[in-house]
Amino acid sequence: MKTLWVWLALYLLCSFTWADTRTSGHVYLSPQLQALQDDPQRNPVALWQERGQGLWQAQCASCHGAMDSVKRSVASFPRLSADGKSLVNLEDQIVRCQQRGAAASQASESSALESDSVLSLSAAMHQAAKGERIQVASSSSASLEHTTQWQARLSSGERLYQTRMGRINLACMHCHDGKVGAQMRADTISQAHPTGFPIYRMAWQTLGSLDRRLRACYSGVQAPIPPAGSADLRDLELFLKVRANGMVMDGPSIRR
Ligand code: HEC
Ligand code: HEC
Repeated sequence: MKTLWVWLALYLLCSFTWADTRTSGHVYLSPQLQALQDDPQRNPVALWQERGQGLWQAQCASCHGAMDSVKRSVASFPRLSADGKSLVNLEDQIVRCQQRGAAASQASESSALESDSVLSLSAAMHQAAKGERIQVASSSSASLEHTTQWQARLSSGERLYQTRMGRINLACMHCHDGKVGAQMRADTISQAHPTGFPIYRMAWQTLGSLDRRLRACYSGVQAPIPPAGSADLRDLELFLKVRANGMVMDGPSIRR
């Protein structure tokens, strides 16, 4: 009997030490916004998802079949491009594939990134991938050169995350590791896990990608804002995704 208690105590101790303390941004939403998120009749993201499903049928299904066929892959972006020169996130991949689909898109990549069609497709694809776990890694079959490049991008993202910036002179980590749960203006600071993107942000009155949210954080500390699609933003996305590896994706989400 005594040994049983010892084992039980050990088990409890271990499960506490191993417990995953990472939380999605959903946890920090007000009850009103959580209710909006959970109500399909009122949730504004529903319209974007519907539009994205229509676009998928029109622009993507001919090559990819059902959207379900790419849901695992949604959880694996950003990835290093085949030439090893840049990181490609899901929105970049959508833009590339739209451009592949003939002259349909004449817009430049960066202006297309936050376009309605790219965001709608991203919303529908993230909805299809809801419940999948983030799984971002350097491909196991990659060459040594490719793996080295991937590691370099990851280190750059980590360095950016830890570097003080802007007139406020804070790094990402000072808020998102050091001040989690604290109030900043009307927001509660989260752990910045990229589990709920794209987000419908009330302050924007529209849907936006992780790229746009990161730029908003640069603006928040009054630092020069990197252009949409820039290497720094992709390096940060890679670092955030690897930091969130194994976490469940929430699908597109409401934010304040
Ligand atoms: C003409 C064929 C074609 C069309 C149309 C097309 N794609 Fe692709 N897609 C590809 C190819 C080929 C790849 C392989 C990777 C690459 O070359 O970019 C790919 C890769 C992808 C991937 C990564 C999949 C994986 O499992 O690695 C996603 C996601 C994706 N496409 C989304 C889209 C979306 C969204 C659309 C519609 C806007 C679309 N594609 C339209 C050919 C196409
Ligand atoms: C001065 C504090 C501060 C700094 C510094 C800061 N942020 Fe934020 N960030 C916020 C606040 C406030 C929000 C909105 C509430 C939330 O989701 O945390 C936010 C939101 C986010 C989110 C969205 C989380 C979600 O679930 O919607 C991500 C991701 C993020 N920040 C990443 C970063 C990165 C990367 C950096 C550094 C380049 C950074 N932040 C710098 C305060 C900060």
